[in-house]
Formats: sequence, C-alpha cells, structure tokens
Amino acid sequence: MEVSTIKFDRFKPLADDACDGRIVAAKKALGKRAVILGHHYQRADVYKHADLTGDSLRLSKLAAQTDAEYIVFCGVHFMAEVADILSKPHQKAILPDLSAGCSMADMANLAKVERAWREIGEVLDPEEKVTPITYINSAADLKAFCGEHGGIVCTSTNAREILQWAFARREKVLFFPDQHLGRWTGYLMDIPLSEMLVWDPDEPMGGLTAQQIKMAKVLLWKGHCSVHQMFQAQHVLRWRQQNPSGMVISHPECNFEVCKLSDYVGSTDFIIKTVAASAPGTRWLVGTELNLVNRIAEELKPQGKIVQFMAPTVCMCSTMARIDPQHLAWSLENLVAGKVVNQIKVPPHEAELARIALDRMLAVS
Ligand code: 13P
Ligand code: SF4
Repeated sequence: MEVSTIKFDRFKPLADDACDGRIVAAKKALGKRAVILGHHYQRADVYKHADLTGDSLRLSKLAAQTDAEYIVFCGVHFMAEVADILSKPHQKAILPDLSAGCSMADMANLAKVERAWREIGEVLDPEEKVTPITYINSAADLKAFCGEHGGIVCTSTNAREILQWAFARREKVLFFPDQHLGRWTGYLMDIPLSEMLVWDPDEPMGGLTAQQIKMAKVLLWKGHCSVHQMFQAQHVLRWRQQNPSGMVISHPECNFEVCKLSDYVGSTDFIIKTVAASAPGTRWLVGTELNLVNRIAEELKPQGKIVQFMAPTVCMCSTMARIDPQHLAWSLENLVAGKVVNQIKVPPHEAELARIALDRMLAVS
C-alpha cells in the first residue's frame, strides 16, 4: 500500500524546542537504519542531534563508510550530493530542506566552466596542460566535469596535496569556484601571486589575454563565500592591538590578507581541534561561521579560553541555517512512516564521472 507523505505544514508552526522530543523519538524508532551527519556550521538545536559531525572531507568519508539505509544530511546540497555519489546503491541521501544550498557553489555552473575550457582551448590544449580542480563546494555536474577531464575534487583540508597531485600531471590548474582557497593554497606552495590570475566567467576569455593565459600557473575562478568575505584585515589588526598576545585562526575561504594576518589557517575541523588543544587562558579571534564560533566559545569557556568572532556584524551561513528542527523532525517522521522525502539523487552518468574525481581525491587524502 502506498504510504502518503506527512505534510511539512504540520511542522511549520512548531516551536524549535517542541521538535526536540519528536526528533529523539524518530531517531529511536529508526535505530541503525538512519544516520544523521552534521556539518560544524549547523545551528546548535540541530547539531546536537547529529550522530557524526565533521568538515566536508570527514563527512564525505563518513558517508562512504556508513551502512545506514538513510543518510540524513544536516548540511548543504552539495554535501548531500557527495553522500549520494559515495554511498552504496541501496542507501538514500536526504537533505531535510531542499533550499539549503551554498551561495559559493552557485558561482560556477557547468555552462560557464565548459565555456572557460573552450576559451582556454583557443590558446593552448587544456587536456594536455590544465587540470581542472573543483572545490567540494560545487554541484555534482562540475565534479563530473573534473572526472571526465583528468581533474579532481579538493576540500579545505587537502587542497595543498590536491594541487601537488595536479602539478605532477599537468603544468596549469583551473581552480573553481573559490578564488581564495585556490590563491592561499598556491601561495603556500610558493607560486607567485603574479602567476595566479583571476578568471572572470562573465568576461570573454575570463577577462585575460592569450599571453596571460599562457603564463598563468593557476587560473582562479572569480567566486567567493558570502560569509567569509565579511572578515577583513582591519578586524584582525584592530583585535591584535587590543589583544597583543592573542591568536588568530581563519578558514581558507577568507581573503588573502586575512589569511596572511592569521596565525593559523585551516578547515572547520582544524579550527576546532587547534583552539581546543591550546593552553588554558588563550584568547582567540576566529574567522569562520558564527554557529561554529559560538559553540566552541561556550565549550571552551570553562578552560578560561576566550573565543571571539572576527566580524563586528552577525554573519551566519543562512543556507546552512535552513536545516532547522522543524525540517529535521519532518524528514525523520516521514522515514519512520516509510516515506522518503527530499532524497538527493544525482543522475547515474553524472554520478559515475563525479565519483572518478572524488575517488581521486580520497586516494590522495
Ligand atoms: P570545511 O570543509 O572546512 O568544513 O568547509 C566547508 C564550508 O563550506 C566552509 O564554508
Ligand atoms: Fe557555502 Fe559559504 Fe555557507 Fe560554506 S559558509 S556552505 S562556502 S555559503
């Protein structure tokens, strides 16, 4: 008998804490059939329900390892796509709210990347000279593009090893969609800034001359994260004046100046572990999403650590925040009733090619 979907309308009016007990009960009813994966930027009242948490790399590995029938992803769309691609055929990846996207991922799309590839091809043979690298914050079809064209996926954790992998094969890299992660990683590898040029997808030939394309070692897609762009060098400089012995740690999606002024730069996992491992009493300025910063600030307060957010304004990842207790309770209760809602399913051909690029990444890191 066909089971009908429980409508979300019934969950919309519920208060956040009224969803709590329902989420716990649904998880209990599902037992080992469901695993909830949670990214570090999830809001506290969702994060606490995650069975496993991590940065993008760790969550990809966890998705590939779990045997649960349902992988409920409290994160954003590209993460649930990766879970679908890396999981086994009988497993289903679920995103509790389909509008939880990533504004950075949306800054590159297949038509624009294919056009860039064609335009580069007017100057040199990209299949011989250019490795396409997509940051994991991208749609599955861009990962498929990389799989098809000798390219690879990277995350904020492994970007350096991935660039090394790429340069061992071809002399140039086309890095999308985050220019900042690409530039910072290239800088750490001693690539001069003058050899890392921005490719503007809205300009013919990326806004570059044939000569510039020929001499560039890294072509950096003109994309960024709307959250991390809020952190500015002046915030670090002002804080350092007031906290001369304090430490600064940032995510590599921050701009180059912020990364350069930071004591440490790394993924969300790296940030959490580094701050947690510091000496009691240390003061920290952290350049990444607010939910993560608030959480570690609370957790580490008893150790006398003072953890502060880098920007003076509130800047949260609004798309991550779309996964709220109401949507989590709704998707879990549907699973208990035998109905799969919001399944993320990458078309088979695309998934096959994207998996090539993801497997290359997992083999390297
Ligand atoms: P991490 O892989 O470091 O968790 O980063 C994901 C992300 O979207 C940062 O904005
Ligand atoms: Fe995307 Fe930025 Fe949100 Fe990360 S913080 S998911 S890069 S919009």
